[in-house]
Amino acid sequence: MTNVTDQDRVVIFDTTLRDGEQSPGATMTHAEKLEIAELLDDMGVDIIEAGFPIASEGDFKAVSEIAERSKNSRICGLARANFADIDRCWEAVKHAEKNRIHTFIGTSPLHRAIPNLTQDEMADKIHETVTHARNLCENVQWSPMDATRTEWDYLCRVIEIAIKAGATTINIPDTVGYTAPMESADLIRRLIETVPGADDVIFATHCHNDLGMATANSLAAVAGGARQIECTINGLGERAGNTALEEVVMALRTRNDIMPWHTGIDTTKIMHISRRVATVSGFNVQFNKAIVGKNAFAHESGIHQDGMLKNRENFEIMRPEDIGLSGTSLPLGKHSGRAALRDKLETLGYDVGDNQLKDIFVRFKDLADRKKEVFDDDLIALMTLDEEDDHLQLVSMKVTCGTGGQAESTVELEVDGKDIIATEHGDGPVDATFKAIRAIYPNKAHLQLYQVHAVTAGTDAQATVSVRLEEDGMIATGQSANTDTVVASAKAYIHALNRLIMRREKTGPGADAREISYKDLT
Ligand code: KIV
Ligand code: ZN
Repeated sequence: MTNVTDQDRVVIFDTTLRDGEQSPGATMTHAEKLEIAELLDDMGVDIIEAGFPIASEGDFKAVSEIAERSKNSRICGLARANFADIDRCWEAVKHAEKNRIHTFIGTSPLHRAIPNLTQDEMADKIHETVTHARNLCENVQWSPMDATRTEWDYLCRVIEIAIKAGATTINIPDTVGYTAPMESADLIRRLIETVPGADDVIFATHCHNDLGMATANSLAAVAGGARQIECTINGLGERAGNTALEEVVMALRTRNDIMPWHTGIDTTKIMHISRRVATVSGFNVQFNKAIVGKNAFAHESGIHQDGMLKNRENFEIMRPEDIGLSGTSLPLGKHSGRAALRDKLETLGYDVGDNQLKDIFVRFKDLADRKKEVFDDDLIALMTLDEEDDHLQLVSMKVTCGTGGQAESTVELEVDGKDIIATEHGDGPVDATFKAIRAIYPNKAHLQLYQVHAVTAGTDAQATVSVRLEEDGMIATGQSANTDTVVASAKAYIHALNRLIMRREKTGPGADAREISYKDLT
């Protein structure tokens, strides 16, 4: 890159673990949050918003541990505009070498009405809470939630108060995804020109994707003078999600000729973290999603293939390897050894220890016996299976289907070391199988999501299945992959049940559910 100055540097603030994880159903386990934080740190994310410490004991522990482990990234926690939230946030983030308190309040007329505060009362509260945060931490971010629907004069007034009280970053959230690119650029530009002290802080943009404009709005905000983009991996987030990290980062890189700003992200780590976030959140990436969708680099039509063979730039504006997609790679087979497997996993971004490799190798051999060619996507599916202590394990199953839709499933499970068998009938093989599992292990868990994907082409393709269960406010997602879709379904259901049991044991009924719902964020 040429002619780059510090003022051209855009800070990447990732909120996958806070705004992304608060999306209903995207709940991650403690271990998963630590893993994602490590990947974000490793890929060069400047600031990780690791959670909302006062929301639950689980959030607090996750933010604290991420803070203790962070190597390069600044670790940030979210706090509402009150001293208890801010103190709890500081308790969690203070362990990081570089930390930040992010405090916010809804400033638009609609949001002001919720706590029933006058403009003056809210202004006082902002002054007090930002001052308090700044007395604890030298790096404070303040957000006027729903900024894009806040009256201009009031917005300028409260930003000035926050800057005077010591905020070092002012974030402008488009909470409901309402703005548009020209307005987004204009808003930031005018704020920087108008608000006294604006030159001494960094302006950030935080966009939601309700109208499909989050990426465009974020980039426009940068054109207007913002130097921090708030985003999530895969655009994870409530409703239509947040700005997708991979989209803004790759747009800045690919069109640097007209958007002369840069980030510190190692883009070759994008694909791996995208897959991990999809797996642990249970939110699969749509096939035609920009940058990380399965089809984003597939050029299947005859015309495109011909063009690609002549010159790949005909149809490719980015190279797959830029985001960590290995080019054409030969599939493994049943004669492939451990070294080849380790090698392949490394190119896919997995750093496995000897014991883990042993375990994966057994599963790989089992798959290779059933499937002639084991492709990269098959291995990625294998890697989604985790090794938690399982209370329930599938021993065997037998399913018969009839043309009338009724199916019979006999399932044998090992429940805490004891074998139990049940046979049930249902509307198709998956329904019968889930009923048989429930007969063996009665539970009140409500099935929120059941999703099947073929990993590769062909009738011997593996199916990956995601199952999301909810019980007393606790949510658990299970995944499995198998060449038999019904077996994968049973295993994914059992995986989700095991996770629910594990959480119940750790926290007691209902305790993992956030004491403060994200719906109460005012
Ligand atoms: O969308 C939003 O307004 C938020 C705030 C908490 C910054 O996520
Ligand atoms: Zn948000």
